[in-house]
Parts: sequence; C-alpha cells; structure tokens
Amino acid sequence: MSVHKAIFPVAGLGTRFLPATKAQPKEMLPVVDKPLIQYAVEEAYAAGVREMIFVTGRHKRPIEDHFDMTFELELALEQSGKRELLDVVRSVKPDDMECVYVRQPQALGLGHAVLCAQRLIGNEPFAVLLADDLMVGAPPVLAQMVEQYADWRASILAVQEVPPEQTRRYGIVDGTMVGERVMDVSRIVEKPAPENAPSRWGVAGRYILTPGVFHEIAHQPHGVGGEIQLTDGIAALLRREKVFAYRYRGQRYDCGSKEGFLQANVELALAHRDLGAGFRSYLKSLTL
Ligand code: G1P
Repeated sequence: MSVHKAIFPVAGLGTRFLPATKAQPKEMLPVVDKPLIQYAVEEAYAAGVREMIFVTGRHKRPIEDHFDMTFELELALEQSGKRELLDVVRSVKPDDMECVYVRQPQALGLGHAVLCAQRLIGNEPFAVLLADDLMVGAPPVLAQMVEQYADWRASILAVQEVPPEQTRRYGIVDGTMVGERVMDVSRIVEKPAPENAPSRWGVAGRYILTPGVFHEIAHQPHGVGGEIQLTDGIAALLRREKVFAYRYRGQRYDCGSKEGFLQANVELALAHRDLGAGFRSYLKSLTL
C-alpha cells in the first residue's frame, strides 16, 4: 500500500507575519508567484498523493477558494484566448485531486491538528506536510520519503542536520544508522535545549505516519508550549512500532520566519524559468 492521503495543518494564526497575515492566511503568502500552500500540495501530488486534507480554522477561506474552481476567471481567460494563464489556473487543482476540509476548532497544537483528520484517514499510512517548510528537491522530498516507506513499511520522518544552537526549534531524533541516509529512531524529543538534545538531527515538516499514531496522540498530555505535540505522539508510537528518520536530499526554506521566507523568494526567483536571468542581473547591479 502506498500513500494516498496527506494532511496539511493550516489552522495556525501566523502571528510572525503580522500585519501581512491580519486578514489572510500565512499559507497564502506567495513565494515568487505561488502561495506557500500550493508548493506543499504540488509536492504531495508529485509523490502520488491524491487526497489532500486541510485542517483549517477561522479566516482560512482563501485556501478553500484557491483550490476551488474559479468559473468566472476561467471563462474570462478562455474567451480572451489566454491559454497559458488558463492552464496555470487549472493546474492548481488537477482533476484527479480531491480536496477535503476539516476544522480544528481550537489551536491546541500540531498533534491535535493531525488528530482532527483521523476519521478522514482511516486505517492507512498518510503524509503530513507543514507548508511553512518549503522544500525543494529532485525528486521532491515527499516522493523520496514514499520510496523509503516502500522499503521500510514504517513511519518515516524527514530530518536534516541543524546547528547546535537551533535544537530548540525542532523535534530532535536519536537512533542507529541503518543506511547512508536512514536512522532507526530510538528517541525523539520536541524542541530540546542544546545541552539536552540527543543529536543534531532535526525533523523538517514532512512526515509519513502509520495510523497507529492517532491512538498515541489522543493519549498525550499537553507538552512543550502547552500544546498537544505530534512529536510526543511519535515518541509514544516508538514503543510499539519502528520509526525511521530519513536525511532527505534537497533544500528546506523555513518560511515560518521572515529570513527564510525572503531567502526562498530570492532563490526561487533566481531559479525561475522566466524571471531568473533578469533577476540575477538586477541582484548583481545592487551595490551591497
Ligand atoms: C513543528 C514540529 C517540530 C518540527 C518543526 C519543523 O514545529 O513541532 O517537531 O521540527 O515543525 O518545521 P513548529 O515549527 O511548528 O514550531
């Protein structure tokens, strides 16, 4: 069985980007010409996922509208012969992709958000993608993880090496290497202080999880920051099932921070088919 469903927790308030996120979801902030959430959805689609489950909250309507059909816009583009733009608009939601929305009534943490989608997942493995983490990889990072899942048939966490002073930002894993890029995880801790971090392998916002994790999350007390943490659910899952960490090939942009968001914009603009060359010479012309 492969991975057909993905959860996108998008109920967060996005306070770090105020005032830009006062009246619009942070997941709709564009990197170059696409909203953050679309990068994550495209990554999931490229990995074979066809059912996208958004865990939303109040003020998240623009996300639903983005993945809906925009009849008037499509008609107008068709009538004016703007074929290329019509394709751009239509490709946001391919015909074989289904979008489902479930509400997280209160922001009680990432684990709680994932739990809100339990009934829609049922008894199969699923992916979780945090749109804040914009991942660029070839093949796309989630596709690399689906390949790992096919080998190990167990939960797979995307990890990267993080500087010691940044362990407080991540779930940190420890375990035994069982391949060049794969660790058999024995421990996972949410946002430890550097002196308590079991390693420097930090979890990036991509997970493939087995459905057993729901039961574990449901029994977690409130953890770091008073929230129900996905990391704590995974730590409990470790007592019953194998969990692997996979050091992905690719680049992560932390678009939950202004610096990471700006870096993503600059680097993706440089790599952009139409904009890249012009933008490069513009950057070179700046006397910094
Ligand atoms: C969440 C997870 C953390 C993970 C991180 C990746 O934290 O709780 O374990 O390492 O995403 O971006 P957040 O960034 O939402 O605080």
